[in-house]
Amino acid sequence: MVESTRTATLTFDDKTIELPIHSPSAGPDVLDIRKLYAQGSVFTYDPGFTSTASTESSITYIDGGEGILLHRGYPIDQLAGQSHYLEVCYLLLYGELPSAAQLEEFEGLVTNHTMIHEQMMNLFKGFRRDAHPMAIMTGVVGAMSAFYHDSTDITDPHQREVASIRMIAKLPTIAAAAYKYSIGQPIVYPRNDLDYASNFLRMCFSVPAEDYVVDPILARAMDRIFTLHADHEQNASTSTVRLAGSSGANPFACIAAGIACLWGPAHGGANQACLEMLQEIGSVDRIPEFIARAKDKNDPFRLMGFGHRVYKNFDPRATVMKESADEVLELLGVENNPILQVAKELEAAALADPYFAEKKLFPNVDFYSGIILEAMGFPTSMFTPIFALSRTVGWISQWKEMIEDPALKIGRPRQLYTGETQRDYTNVEDR
Ligand code: SDX
Repeated sequence: MVESTRTATLTFDDKTIELPIHSPSAGPDVLDIRKLYAQGSVFTYDPGFTSTASTESSITYIDGGEGILLHRGYPIDQLAGQSHYLEVCYLLLYGELPSAAQLEEFEGLVTNHTMIHEQMMNLFKGFRRDAHPMAIMTGVVGAMSAFYHDSTDITDPHQREVASIRMIAKLPTIAAAAYKYSIGQPIVYPRNDLDYASNFLRMCFSVPAEDYVVDPILARAMDRIFTLHADHEQNASTSTVRLAGSSGANPFACIAAGIACLWGPAHGGANQACLEMLQEIGSVDRIPEFIARAKDKNDPFRLMGFGHRVYKNFDPRATVMKESADEVLELLGVENNPILQVAKELEAAALADPYFAEKKLFPNVDFYSGIILEAMGFPTSMFTPIFALSRTVGWISQWKEMIEDPALKIGRPRQLYTGETQRDYTNVEDR
């Protein structure tokens, strides 16, 4: 960041404080308040961080008003249409699109790290069969630091690199194993002759009793879903990973923290919640009932898959995802899927309703992804694990950027305290 010559003047009580203004390469200027408490003995207050930049970053940029999403400057629709997930992983990690040789080496590295330590297979057996795959992934990924201790020294660039590759390579294997365990089928090992998305589909859907041939169109759709979920600035789970990493915790523990945060229905759990909502609506004639509930202040119900903290126009990922939904469902001969019909009618009804237009509530990335995943044969419980494995590259890229920042400090927010001021203890007989 170039040191600023512009300042904002803050005047209150008997104080006048000059706050440097920094200009980004894109997006709003920022007021640098790092010296505010020292100079003014005041905190800022921004629960939910609606107006707060928590870090400097050069990985992903979102323009919520224009529906723009750039990864290292490249628009998401171009990456989703012309690139593929492992190339986007390289871009997010290293900042530039790879040469053919660099891409071949990177894909070879990932491919040859897709197996997990054989002892880890025992971890799955410790869960009940009905454990949510996100519970299993949170536990197993956190346990990776016990198996890959040789890539936990965050001060060693080589170990950071190895941990990054291991995470990108092994998360699909872990997610697929969690799924297979939950349905009582044997865990399927990865294959090195398959591409990343095909490998994941085969690990999820093949059984020992017969050969499984990956449909290239489904593999392409799966790869595109991975790409559309890869990274998204400082969202809740990425901020969780950064905060965990700021203490020096090992990368596996940080990614496990990100998985735990992503699970929430307001965040990555929305794709599961959205499909369950569409299934509950069931038919287009019930849409008005649910629209009314979403608008009712006394009803906690929200339209899952709608709204976004940053996008206030449209989510460019939802646009690409909607195209994929049409392609996949046509391929599978279920273009008349009643759930897809409900989704399309719900989208149209919501977008025509002043409430949603005024509050700038549009379909987000989670609105159509669940429809594609369900059509591909995944249970709703696997939707967020797929989001998690896709986002692992974003989490690890943001973690790496933070660890390599010489100005790294442990994250430690302050608070607006409204509790009791000091008072003396009283013995129980006196209360
Ligand atoms: C993801 O941050 C990211 O980048 C996340 C993500 C990523 O890639 O990492 O994009 C992935 O998490 C997408 C979002 C998935 N979540 C959902 O689809 C769940 C449903 N959406 C909402 O819970 C909500 O829209 C949020 C959480 C996504 C955003 O909430 P905000 O920005 O904090 O907005 P808010 O809760 O303050 O709502 C503003 C108003 C409120 O009404 P008022 O109090 O002003 O009267 O809009 C209303 C809300 O009641 N509102 C909704 C609504 N979302 C917001 N009303 C009905 N249905 C909804 N979905």
